[in-house]
Amino acid sequence: MFLVKGGMLVDPAAGIKAVRDILLQDGKVVEIGEHLERPEGAEVYDATGKLVTPGLIDMHVHLREPGLEAKETIASGTRAAAMGGFTSVCCMPNTNPVTDSLALVEAVQAISKRDGAVRVFPIGAITKGSQGQELAEIGDMAQAGVRAVSDDGKPVARAEIMRLALEYAKMFEVTVVSHCEEQSLAGDGVMHYGPMSAMLGLKGIPAAAEEVMVARDIILAEAAGAKLHIAHISTRGSLELVRAAKARGVNVSCEVTPHHLSLSDEAVSGYSTSTKVNPPLRSWDHVSALRQGLADGTIDCIATDHAPHTIEEKAVEFGAAPFGLVGLETAVPLIMELVRNKELDIERAVAALSSNPARVFGLPGGTLQPGSPADLTVIDPDLELVLKPEDLRSQGKNSPFLGTELKGFPVLTMVEGQVVMRERNLLAD
Ligand code: DOR
Repeated sequence: MFLVKGGMLVDPAAGIKAVRDILLQDGKVVEIGEHLERPEGAEVYDATGKLVTPGLIDMHVHLREPGLEAKETIASGTRAAAMGGFTSVCCMPNTNPVTDSLALVEAVQAISKRDGAVRVFPIGAITKGSQGQELAEIGDMAQAGVRAVSDDGKPVARAEIMRLALEYAKMFEVTVVSHCEEQSLAGDGVMHYGPMSAMLGLKGIPAAAEEVMVARDIILAEAAGAKLHIAHISTRGSLELVRAAKARGVNVSCEVTPHHLSLSDEAVSGYSTSTKVNPPLRSWDHVSALRQGLADGTIDCIATDHAPHTIEEKAVEFGAAPFGLVGLETAVPLIMELVRNKELDIERAVAALSSNPARVFGLPGGTLQPGSPADLTVIDPDLELVLKPEDLRSQGKNSPFLGTELKGFPVLTMVEGQVVMRERNLLAD
């Protein structure tokens, strides 16, 4: 038994924002109350002055296993998740081989069970090998528990394949997650197209490269009556398309990353390859549209798109480096900064990191109502840290936030009643 006492419970799905005690037993939430007595033998965690939230869910990470273990493993990626306050992660299929079959999904599930510090939900590929030509075994993967499919990183170029994928996904009740990028428009761009790219002499990726695909996929999802989730939305125009689609009842949701909310293309001016990410960091006008879209509920979820790469891969000139940055261990303080600046209220922030991703993918958790899984995160809103590469538990050190003072870190991560991180120490080792 475990009693979390005196914290500010923020559970948007239950409509609670109040100081509460929470009793956990046998992997479940047992009771919530204003003053709960400590039962005989219960361990007590004093959460006074801290925020207590449902275990955070990151619906978009890259764990790189199997095949790309030099970048990350399920063991290291889930430890980074635990440090970041995440109790569940959904991992993208751009592994090697691509997670596009029942056998591969089961392999990822088995490794996760053996090595994982938090819950792992594999996302299956939309097409075989994410080659965009032939549908993957969506039905078989759904049988194995896959809740979403995506060719993340490799957008489905052929509209007919996307249409078919949406039809199948509907049949098997899975969500299609679309990395929206029209490749002839994106070309070999390496950053956002605009005055900054011109000034830095780097090739740009226009906002339209994303927006054209968002429009296409919304039209296809609407026609199929299927569930579409737009990954890492990054432009004002994409947001307007989603807002209009939602208004007319299309089953579409979307996510935004902490880096697209916190940084603009100005961050690229030092040519640090840790700022090279796809979709690219956009101009401040897009950033402010994203903040607004999150605050008004058009954006459902916050997801990190945690994309670890090796130091060697990133230690090259900007144009040659792979896209991606690590996000699991900095997401919470970056979002807490928006909360402190009153750009986002805490209920929306927590919903976007827990109940909304649970709802979009149909995952367990997302609330601490009695009977729910004992997946819980405690955040110290006042804890300030300057992260160094060696502090990151991810193998990937490609974070643009290293050396920056960040405030508001998770101090307890509990998965199914087991403490996996406490006071910034991992207990899952
Ligand atoms: O920056 C990115 N990195 N964007 C993607 O879509 C893929 C990801 C990766 O796998 O490295």
